[in-house]
Order: sequence, then C-alpha cells, then structure tokens
Amino acid sequence: MVSNTGGGYSFHKDPQNRRVTRYRYNNIPMDRPGRYIYIRNKDTGEYWNPGYQPVQKKLDNYSCRHGLGYTVLTGEYQGVIGEVTYFVPDDKNFELWLVKVSNTRSIKQNLQVFAYSEFCFWDAIMDQQNVDWVQQINQGRFNDGIITWHPHHISDNAAFFATGERVSSFDTNLETFIGKYRSESNPIAVEQGGCSNSISYRTNGVGAFCIDCDLGPNEERELVFVLGFAEERSEIKNDIKEYLLPENAKAAFGRLQSSWVNYISKLSVETPDEDMNLFVNIWNQYQCKTTFNWSRFVSMYQLGLGRGMGIRDSAQDTLGVMHTIPEEAKELIIKLLKCQYTDGRAYHLFFPLTGEGGQGDAPVKKFDWYSDDHLWLILAVNAYIKETGDFDFLNMEVPYNDKITSQTVMEHLDKALEFTNNNRGPHNIALAGRADWNDTLNLDTGKGVAESVFTSMLYCRALLEMIEILEFLKKTDMIEKYTNMYEDMKKAINDTCWDGEWYKRAFDDNSQPLGSKENKFGKIFINSQSWAVLSKVAENGREVQSLESVEKYLNSKYGIVTMYPAYTEHDTTKGGVTTYPPGAKENGGIFLHTNPWVMISEVMLGNGDKAYMYYNQILPGKRNDDAELYEVEPYVYCQNILGKEHPQFGIGRNSWLSGTAAWNMVASSQYILGIRANYDSLTVDPCIPSSWKGFKATRVFRGATYNIEVQNPNRVCTGVAKVIVDGVETEKIPVFETGTEHNVVVVMK
Ligand code: GLC
Repeated sequence: MVSNTGGGYSFHKDPQNRRVTRYRYNNIPMDRPGRYIYIRNKDTGEYWNPGYQPVQKKLDNYSCRHGLGYTVLTGEYQGVIGEVTYFVPDDKNFELWLVKVSNTRSIKQNLQVFAYSEFCFWDAIMDQQNVDWVQQINQGRFNDGIITWHPHHISDNAAFFATGERVSSFDTNLETFIGKYRSESNPIAVEQGGCSNSISYRTNGVGAFCIDCDLGPNEERELVFVLGFAEERSEIKNDIKEYLLPENAKAAFGRLQSSWVNYISKLSVETPDEDMNLFVNIWNQYQCKTTFNWSRFVSMYQLGLGRGMGIRDSAQDTLGVMHTIPEEAKELIIKLLKCQYTDGRAYHLFFPLTGEGGQGDAPVKKFDWYSDDHLWLILAVNAYIKETGDFDFLNMEVPYNDKITSQTVMEHLDKALEFTNNNRGPHNIALAGRADWNDTLNLDTGKGVAESVFTSMLYCRALLEMIEILEFLKKTDMIEKYTNMYEDMKKAINDTCWDGEWYKRAFDDNSQPLGSKENKFGKIFINSQSWAVLSKVAENGREVQSLESVEKYLNSKYGIVTMYPAYTEHDTTKGGVTTYPPGAKENGGIFLHTNPWVMISEVMLGNGDKAYMYYNQILPGKRNDDAELYEVEPYVYCQNILGKEHPQFGIGRNSWLSGTAAWNMVASSQYILGIRANYDSLTVDPCIPSSWKGFKATRVFRGATYNIEVQNPNRVCTGVAKVIVDGVETEKIPVFETGTEHNVVVVMK
C-alpha cells in the first residue's frame, strides 16, 4: 500500500503474520512511516523528498500518479527532479523502488540519495503488544548490499532491503538513523550526510542506504532498491539479482503493465458516458481485483489485523472478476467451500496464509453463525459455471472445515440451502443468527427466534440460481425439491413481511418488526426492497411499490441510504447498528454496497433511466470536482458515504475494500449494459438510459472476442428487437472457438 506521499506499508501474503514494514495508524503526524527517498545536496546540506513527505520541503513541482499496480511520485527542487516508481514485479516476494534523479541545470550538482524503510516484526499484533520481547529479539544485519531484519530465534526468514548501487553508508538500527528526539522529517543521518553503518542487536530496525549521486550538467541516474520478504535468507541475493539493474527493473515494469492490460482487456465499452467508460474499462475492474485479493482485510482503513478475509465478502468479490480470471475465482471459491461446516453453514472468515477459519465480531448469543455467509457461495459457483461452462466443477470433491468429510460442490451447495431451510423462526422465515449481510443487525439476544427477511430473500435468490443450473442439467427431482423450498419461503415472506408500502427487514428476538411503519426508527430498509425483486419474491405490484418507496424515503443526491429514520439511541435488541450516530454506516448512512442491488432491481423491472440515475449518483468519477467534501479517491468506490441525517452528509469513508466494487461491476456491465455470460451463450440485453443512441463493447467470452454494437433507434430503455451475429440474425449469441472474433449487432425495440 502506498499513499500519495509514499506513506503505507508492505507485507508478504498476510498482513497480520508477515508484516514487512511498520505503519503507525491514527498517528500524528499522519501517514507515517513510508517508503522514503531523501535527496540531499552535499554542498548546501539541504534535503527533500520527491514525494514531499516526510521532510515537507516546499517543492517546485510535485505529482503522484497511481496506476494499475504501481505508484509514481515525482518532485522537483532547485533543478533536480526525483522520481520514484513503486511496484511488485512478476509476482515476486519483493517490491522495487525504481528511482530516477535528474539534474536539469547546466552546472554539476553534488547529491546523495538516501533510501529508507522501517521494519516491523512479522507478527504485526505482537509488534504492538509485546514491545519488550520484540525489541530484544530483532536483529539487523548488512552484507553485500542487503540489509536483513529477522528475529533471533527464527533462523531462515528475513525481511530485507537491498540495492545494487555502491553503498556509501547504511543503517540497520532505526534509532541510530533517526537520532534521539528526532523523526523521519529530520533524521540525523540525512542531516549529517551519512549513515553510521549500524548493526542492530536489538530495538527497532531500519533499512537505510546512503548512495553518492553527483550529477554533471543535465545528467540523470537510475537506482533500484528492493524491499521484500524471504523464506530463506541465503536465497535473497539470487532472487533479486536480476532486478537490481535499472534496465531489468524497467523491463519488469513493462511486464507488469502488460499483465494489467491483459487483465482489463476482457471487457471494454464505449458508451456516451466517459466516466462510466473509465470505470467499466479500468478503475472498477482494478478495484475488483483488489477486493478479490484482500476482501475486507487490509487497506489504509482495514488494518489487516484480527479480521481475516470474509466468507460472504470473498464470495461476492468473485463476481467482479469472473469475466476475466474465472480460474482464479474458482480457486478462491474452493477455499470458501472448505470453510463450510458439514451442516452447510460456514465460518465467517478465514486467514489467507494459514487457510484457518474464524468467527467474526458480532456477539454470540444463542447462535454462533451468520445467517447469510453460506448462501453467497451458490451465487459465486453459478457465476463461475456461466462464465466457463465448467459444469464438472459441481462434481468436484471438496472437504468441509472438519478436514475429514469431503463432498461434491453440488452437495456443499445443497447443504447450504438445507441449513437455512432447517433454521427458520416463528414466521417461517430464516433465523437471523448473529447477523446477516448487515453485520450490525445483531438481533439474537439469547432467545434464538429473531429472523431476517433479507436472508430469506437471499435464500430465495440462491434457490432460483440453483434451479437455473439444474434446469440446464435437466435434473427434474432436484428442481422439484428446490422449487418447493422456494415457493414455501416466498409465501412466508409475502404472508408475513409485507408492510403495506414496502417489505419489513427483520423481526427481533421479541418478534417485533424492523423496517415497518410501526417503528419509530428504521421504518424502511433498503435491502428487503431490492432483494424482494432480486429474489422475484415480490409480485402483483409489490415489486414496483417497494422500489418506489426506496426512491421516496431512502434516496439522496449522494446515494441511497441503508434505512430511515436512523436510530438515535443504543438499543440492545437491535445491536451494533444502534451504536453508530444517525447517518453513519449501517445506521442510515449510504452503505454503497447496497446501491447496485437497487440498480439491478430497476433493470429487472425495465427501468433503465432509474438504474442509470442510481449508478451515476454514486460513481466516484462524478465526485471529482467535489473532492473537498467527498475526501476519498475519485477512482475507486468507498464503502460508505455519510448519509442525509449526518451533519457531514456527503463525506466518503473507507475506500477500496467494499462489495460495492464487484456489485457495481455486475450492475453496470451485466445489467445496465446487459452483457451477461450464460451456460451456452452470451446474452446482450441492455437496460440503458432512454437518451442513449446505443453503445459499443468488446467482450472476450470463453476465449472468443465479441465486438458488440447496440443500436437504440427508438430511444427505449430496454427490449431487444433483433440480434445479428456475423451478419446473420439469430436467437442466441453462441459460444465460439477460442481465438476467433465475431461481430454482434443488437437492435433495440
Ligand atoms: C462490511 C463487512 C461486510 C458486511 C458489510 C455490511 O463491509 O465486511 O461483510 O456485509 O460491512 O455490514
């Protein structure tokens, strides 16, 4: 992770157990430490950083560019330009800092370059908890351009910082480099113009190099630094050797760019909306890879400590990358299936390094499970099969979390459905457990009768998806079983959860409703409206009315809030949601993850203008001119925006790791633009704004390339009049041979 001024930290595979560098959360001064390059003028003694921090010298120029998998910081001071490119090459266990220093003046400038990174003990929790032990055991060494940092008792592993340049001096001890009562802003080593060659036998570690860098008139020089983690200390030299040369580092950078271009090349669109194009083609896809990799575990907001990767989160994250890396998605789905108990429910989370499962934070009363986790697996598996046609996956044996019992994927999914079916409450709908998608609705107080309307709807959606697969496979008996389960739940929901203008959200442990006009707070919730449509539970006008109520009571100019009115006081019968101030997070905030569900629902009802309106109002790119209020990055979705009941309405919080990424990818590409993978075909069924003349798209599906042109001569939102594939009108857009290219014209009604 790299901030716009070089702040941030590194880890290897697991941010909790393999932390390489430290980061001081909630620190003042903020955003420290980081990966710093100091440039010092030997004649004047002045020093500065290309990324502004931590010296904060007023630079003549500064820029930060975050690209796909890399960050470039550039600063200019007194005729010297310093540029640092940070990236991880070729899936290696290290990162490269490619530094370029240019003298733009026609006189010689005598310079030094210092490179700096502060090490962490691997176990990032222990690093904070047991300062005595950690500081006694850590050891820093220097040998042949490589600084290693490792605990005394673990002989082979090491974090390291290395360079191929001639090292004038180095430090491995943090206190020696910084000096007493100083900070990263004025390290004694930089001030004095040289490190002390300190070997650290205890305390805190640093990787610090001083390199002489005198530059003649208009001369420039490139230097490479490598920061990483090694299982075997003895192998570091070999591993990094090739990358120490600037031309090789640059070649690796080229490969990195190609691999990202390849990743985003499976889908690209050309719509009348430039921001939408940027998101669908690049940034939304990029964010989806990040959430796929890290779920909600590690970002500048999620600290990578304790929490692990969420089962429900990761299952949903696979939906955002399915069109481009389905095989990787399959690997993750298998890991998630391994987190299932033999009764069908699942762990709440797992840790990537060890694969171990965990329980999450919601209080355990009568139940120790979340009611929804296991059900998301069905959506993920179905999406995978549609993308790949790999029905065999259903027959693959996967162990449960007891590591003894193995069953086929199909049986895992059946167990998941059975678990919900077997755990129903007084209204015959799904028990709420510790929580559902909304982690903060903790309704179980020990009686064990609280129920979730949302989980019941998700269960219905999962059943529909299962039936869809089985219909394709023509498995009649199972279709009948699941159809009965579906109808049974649908009836229960419609009989007991309709509130007059919308669907109720839940029943607490005293069987009191949430999301009803009878409630003082939380009269209406978003999810039981969108999922009423997604699950096709709502009919006879209820589907229309539910969505109208969403717009009427929950929408705002920055997005749709989770519920209204927000709770103003703590209420133990509702749990965590009532601990947030009104308008924050799940308590009436704009929890963005829920918004694409409304977009999809609008599409399902044929309302392209509405779906696009909802898409547009939360598109980060549209907030670019509003950055002073919005605060967070305009190129990725954040998790939440403070809602209309909050005094700071409109501020975005917790960017990057959010299910918003995957679901907006799905909502925009598969529903608004309507390009959906199917078991035996590709569907193009748009539901767009009526003002659009049409759009173009390129989609790679099972290895073949489809150049799609959608024409909307009568300016409708939805409805396809004809589909022409390679000049021939057809019903279905078929699967073609890998490597072939085809033209698809879709004419709307
Ligand atoms: C967080 C959790 C996610 C949950 C959401 C709503 O993003 O990681 O699992 O669904 O909050 O509570």
